[in-house]
Amino acid sequence: MAFIAALGLLMAGICPAVLCDGTLGRDTLSHEDHGKGRQLHSLTLASSNTDFALSLYKKLALRNPDKNVVFSPLSISAALTILSLGAKDSTMEEILEGLKFNLTEITEEEIHQGFGHLLQRLSQPEDQVEINTGSALFIDKEQPILSEFQEKTRALYQAEAFIADFKQPNEAKKLINDYVSNQTQGKIAELFSDLEERTSMVLVNYLLFKGKWKVPFNPNDTFESEFYLDEKRSVKVPMMKIKGITTPYVRDEELSCSVLELKYTGNASALFILPDQGKMQQVESSLQPETLKKWKDSLIPRIINDLRMPKFSISTDYSLKEVLPELGIKKVFSQQADLSRITGTKDLYVSQVVHKAVLDVDETGTEATAATGVATVIRRQPRTLNFNRPFMVVITDMDSQSILFVAKITNPK
Ligand SMILES: *[C@@H]1O[C@H](CO)[C@@H](O)[C@H](O)[C@H]1NC(C)=O
Ligand SMILES: *[C@@H]1O[C@H](CO)[C@@H](O)[C@H](O)[C@H]1NC(C)=O
Ligand SMILES: *[C@@H]1O[C@H](CO)[C@@H](O)[C@H](O)[C@H]1NC(C)=O
Ligand SMILES: *[C@@H]1O[C@H](CO)[C@@H](O)[C@H](O)[C@H]1NC(C)=O
Repeated sequence: MAFIAALGLLMAGICPAVLCDGTLGRDTLSHEDHGKGRQLHSLTLASSNTDFALSLYKKLALRNPDKNVVFSPLSISAALTILSLGAKDSTMEEILEGLKFNLTEITEEEIHQGFGHLLQRLSQPEDQVEINTGSALFIDKEQPILSEFQEKTRALYQAEAFIADFKQPNEAKKLINDYVSNQTQGKIAELFSDLEERTSMVLVNYLLFKGKWKVPFNPNDTFESEFYLDEKRSVKVPMMKIKGITTPYVRDEELSCSVLELKYTGNASALFILPDQGKMQQVESSLQPETLKKWKDSLIPRIINDLRMPKFSISTDYSLKEVLPELGIKKVFSQQADLSRITGTKDLYVSQVVHKAVLDVDETGTEATAATGVATVIRRQPRTLNFNRPFMVVITDMDSQSILFVAKITNPK
């Protein structure tokens, strides 16, 4: 199973730098490392990130009713947090508050330290789960950049910086798209289909996750079956199957849904949420951090006699410039944007935010043969779980409690 996402944040010039009147941004941030309180900050960070993930999910689902939804909240918030390093005053506050940080409880400095630390830890090579994340800046060769900004993005976020010539938009686009394609193993081949005029800087973040099921599906058991888009329509999909798996499960009668956790080898897990027929909207509208917590707290290992799940690959493409203002992030997209901690002048604003994500679900696990007792337990009421109608997936890194990806599958075809 693989999830891959990339976000491109494009900044354009408001007016030629020489004609712009601006004051040099003063620096308040130091990158000293405070080990103390890190635990606390990482919890605050995780809970803000979860809040942002679910808030953004609702906006995306509302705008794309009945469509598949796939995105990486962590990739989006990482890029926006890096952007906030270059922002000042209300432009900066809007970004951080839009990311659900309460600035009376956590300082800007703590956010950057926590985030930098989290991203670094996630991309540490580990043989069990493959998570790879990183950021890069593409800066126009004629765009002056404050060295503090470049140093901070490198020190806190290990962001690579590249010089591009945006007067040659096709070449600049190719440079960025090739970089992203390479980092995402070719899964996101063209992040930008075109670059806007007057682009002078592009910020890119990518996140790649490849998990292996702790209990793999046996490809020999995969068969063609119906997936019901709604009460009337269905499509044929390859359906994977496991007989007799013991895995955490909870039935939420109040919200009319079943929740199943499937673990990956390593420290990641996937929560599959299957609303009863016609109940998707009800579940979506009650989706809060507390709902997720309630489910996680009440999951209990259960025997699922017959588990069926489609095998699929879906991808999405979002322009977040229209969505982020609904979360309060507005100024940075306007001529009033203050990104003067990047250039020293108020001559930049964000003109485009592109997010692409790919989700592949398949049988892959660590072992070649499914290590499941084949229905050796006979129950009076066999529990079956058939993901043959729209469902949601939430992928979490359990170590940091970070939501890496959120998806809704309305049509696996
Ligand atoms: C932020 O935190 C303060 C102090 O804990 C609290 O009083 C306030 O209501 C919080 N603001 C928001 C928007 O949650
Ligand atoms: C692609 O990535 C690999 C490994 O990160 C690197 O060695 C290689 O130079 C990259 N290729 C391009 C075209 O960027
Ligand atoms: C999972 O996380 C725990 C707690 O952070 C850590 O001790 C353990 O090494 C991790 N396991 C793997 C396989 O990474
Ligand atoms: C799938 O079937 C083939 C051919 O019958 C067999 O060789 C293989 O071991 C089976 N694979 C698994 C994982 O059971």
